[in-house]
Amino acid sequence: MSSSANRLINRPILATIHTDAFRHNLSRIRELAPASKIWSVVKAKAYGHTLEAVLKGLESTDGFALLDIADAQWLRDHAWGGRILLLEGLFSQEELELAVKLKCDLVVHSEKQVDWLEAYQNHSGHQINIFLKLNSGMNRLGLKPAHYRTAFHRLHAAGYHLHHMTHFANADQVERSPSVGEQLECFEQAIEGLQAPTSLANSAAILWHRNALGDWIRPGIMLYGVSPTGVHADIVRSELQAVMQLRSEIIDIQELKKGDHIGYGGRYQSPEDMRIGVIACGYADGYPRHAEDGTPVWVDAADTHGNGAICPIVGQVSMDMLTIDLREAPHAKIGSVVELWGSEVPVDDVAQMSGTIGYELICALAPRVSVVIK
Ligand SMILES: Cc1ncc(COP(=O)(O)O)c(C=O)c1O
Repeated sequence: MSSSANRLINRPILATIHTDAFRHNLSRIRELAPASKIWSVVKAKAYGHTLEAVLKGLESTDGFALLDIADAQWLRDHAWGGRILLLEGLFSQEELELAVKLKCDLVVHSEKQVDWLEAYQNHSGHQINIFLKLNSGMNRLGLKPAHYRTAFHRLHAAGYHLHHMTHFANADQVERSPSVGEQLECFEQAIEGLQAPTSLANSAAILWHRNALGDWIRPGIMLYGVSPTGVHADIVRSELQAVMQLRSEIIDIQELKKGDHIGYGGRYQSPEDMRIGVIACGYADGYPRHAEDGTPVWVDAADTHGNGAICPIVGQVSMDMLTIDLREAPHAKIGSVVELWGSEVPVDDVAQMSGTIGYELICALAPRVSVVIK
């Protein structure tokens, strides 16, 4: 971003979704798993990036996996003719008719869902794809191994086209239990002799367990250029790019004397005379209130050479504003553009300084923040 970056209008906070980064990340995923098809996981409005943006940036995916049937309807209304997977399947029996009309693939994770599908008379003229989910150790959703084969046979007999699916609990942690190896073994035993395509890997498994991919992979967070572990170095090593950039501006500057306190609770006390930048971004925009002093913010054209500079947060984040230390930014002025997260400031770093993970921050971008899709 240069100093000539477009001035933002109205209250100067804006999220930009970079669809070229989407394209880049999707092609990196294809390089990592060339033999697999890709369900791009776009639940929670594409982890906060909007469905409009994924239609523009991820149009070459093999399918979109999501949660709400309303989002499936939205994709169909906007001319998406490819596959759609309902990641938690049906929430009620009544949803089935609409799911079939929208040509959705369905995850089936419970006996109740098997009952609904068995009872259903499919007059649509097309075959319904089922991703039967095994609980291989995560103990969230999925059929236990003891019930899996019966469910498979029932759905097969009822005329559905079946796939085997499971989800890993710890693909980002080698030493945690259940390990990927344990879950994989459970999966292979449960499906033995039952011919069907498979779907296993989330982002962490795609990055670190290439033996556990399956015919259909399910990347979510890596599509957005954010780390499954919370460690930004993983994203750099994997050559992924940030898709969401959250920017705002300095709306005021305070000249503090040594010993002055800043903001609610006076958490930060100035160690010397210094300038403080007030940024139009607070927790009501989705910025984490728990961000500690030192959380990085990037200020455009700010240092003595006119380059961007990282300026740490000082003081408590409030509802509409946050405050930064401008000692490294002598050229910063009212109207200077700042990046809260994006390519200069990894959202993973902001999350780490706030006791959370990047997933939460991107999903929690507030509706009051305008979004531009580039
Ligand atoms: C079943 C399933 N598959 C894939 C994903 C994508 O996971 P990630 O964002 O870690 O890649 C999720 C997300 O939680 C999920 O629930």
